[in-house]
Amino acid sequence: MKFALLLTALSLSGSGLAAVSGTLQLDFWRDRSSSQRNPTLDRLREKKLLKRAVNNTVSQDLDNEYYLYYTNVTVGTPGQDLRLQIDTGSSDVWFQSAENKICQESSDPCAESGIYDPDSSSTYSLLSTDFSIRYGDYSYAKGNYASESFTIGGKTVANLTVGIATDANATQGIMGIGYDTNEAVIFTAGASRRYQNLPDLLVSQGFIESRVYSLWLNDQNAKTGSVLFGGIDTEKYSGSLVTLPFIADEGESTPSEFFVTLEGSAYTDASGSTTEYSSSLGLSVLLDSGTSFVYLPSSVQADFANAVGATWNDQVGYYIIPCPEVVNSDATYDFEFAGITIKVPVKQLFLPGTNAKNEPVTYTNGQQVCLLTIVDSSGLGVSILGDTFLRAAYIVYDLDNNQASIAQTKYNATASNVVAVGSGTDSVANAAASAGSAAVLSDSDVAKKLHFGYSIDKRRPRRSISVA
Ligand SMILES: *[C@@H]1O[C@H](CO)[C@@H](O)[C@H](O)[C@H]1NC(C)=O
Ligand SMILES: *[C@@H]1O[C@H](CO)[C@@H](O)[C@H](O)[C@H]1NC(C)=O
Ligand SMILES: *[C@@H]1O[C@H](CO)[C@@H](O)[C@H](O)[C@H]1NC(C)=O
Ligand SMILES: *[C@@H]1O[C@H](CO)[C@@H](O)[C@H](O)[C@H]1NC(C)=O
Ligand SMILES: *[C@@H]1O[C@H](CO)[C@@H](O)[C@H](O)[C@H]1NC(C)=O
Repeated sequence: MKFALLLTALSLSGSGLAAVSGTLQLDFWRDRSSSQRNPTLDRLREKKLLKRAVNNTVSQDLDNEYYLYYTNVTVGTPGQDLRLQIDTGSSDVWFQSAENKICQESSDPCAESGIYDPDSSSTYSLLSTDFSIRYGDYSYAKGNYASESFTIGGKTVANLTVGIATDANATQGIMGIGYDTNEAVIFTAGASRRYQNLPDLLVSQGFIESRVYSLWLNDQNAKTGSVLFGGIDTEKYSGSLVTLPFIADEGESTPSEFFVTLEGSAYTDASGSTTEYSSSLGLSVLLDSGTSFVYLPSSVQADFANAVGATWNDQVGYYIIPCPEVVNSDATYDFEFAGITIKVPVKQLFLPGTNAKNEPVTYTNGQQVCLLTIVDSSGLGVSILGDTFLRAAYIVYDLDNNQASIAQTKYNATASNVVAVGSGTDSVANAAASAGSAAVLSDSDVAKKLHFGYSIDKRRPRRSISVA
């Protein structure tokens, strides 16, 4: 689901917080100064782009904008450049039409992401007029379905079904890469309208061998991450990939979303000593790149907050702590899955608060306020591991075999060893083994430990529901 941070201004009154402008905009570090760029890394990245591509993979860099990840694509013939948010939690690709009123506002809010013009494309073909999608943050887009050429990672997919928004209250187009069984059209017009979406067409048009892609979001402060369709990069993670089955929603025989089971939570302090909070959470969590933060039950949230001494602040609506107390910490929050624990550096789960003018929000003593990005999930009715968790993991989404293989990420890894993933049930394991990397753990003992049949709360906002 797209659940990007809403840019809501919350008013701050009283309290120990000296809000610079009286408001705290939940808008983190969008404007990064050039001093945060690392010229050496940039050069290495350029070199990487020149490297020969591995057959049967499609690699695409992602721009890290802190609260979401963008990818550059071109659409149509001749190609029109667009910037889309990558979303593993939805399944449709859509972008803006100039007809959308929100794009006509004087501030030109759609300029950054781009506006698509069907009249200038020879490969555009109208399919229907009932495109309609709504996301977890209640933003929506409506308009037409069309068939178009779509270029990503240098590969052009022909005849992709795309949404062209003539009415939307979001300025940012989306590249949804979830299961085709979760397309918006199924909820608005019925299952018979299901179409082959981007992961499907990459396979059926021969660009990759199975519906597999690896997501490497990288460090909070890194400029880019990447998505690699059809392959794994064994230099981007440490240890072994461990395979976790996706859990089917209640009443479904196969999964249509990327839920896995979170078994437990713990905290490891800077000296390496671990405090186990729970080893029997049995919680279904969505691995969702379209969500900025982490949504977990309040008890888990409170355990993590208390571990570092973050305190709840009513005005802000978050657990907060002076930034200096976390930014240099070597402590980790430990997310336990069957067979693997992903250690998320505490500093990756806090973000500095800034106000509407992008100035730091401070305590009265001048220290900057940092917010815990683990949010109480009770309002949402579903637990989500969004970007602030995902950055710590290398995740291979395997849609053909309904499972994810995950490992601890290697932040800022500049080496690369891309291996194509074939087809068949052990395709990811075989690819890892062929690269000389430790085999993927997928033995049935691990699978048996998982809690199947876990009830997923149906009250949660469905990422794809019809808009009246
Ligand atoms: C990629 O495929 C081409 C054509 O099939 C082949 O000639 C080439 O050797 C392959 N390259 C690699 C690295 O496998
Ligand atoms: C995407 O395009 C923008 C604008 O041309 C560019 O600044 C940015 O570096 C590109 N991002 C990637 C990951 O290639
Ligand atoms: C979009 O509109 C819906 C109502 O249809 C509203 O709930 C939501 O907050 C709006 N989102 C934005 C980003 O304006
Ligand atoms: C795309 O659609 C056009 C027009 O229907 C057709 O001629 C072409 O073969 C299709 N291409 C692919 C790869 O499906
Ligand atoms: C990764 O690179 C970013 C940007 O240069 C830097 O801020 C960050 O500290 C690095 N992370 C690690 C774990 O070295």
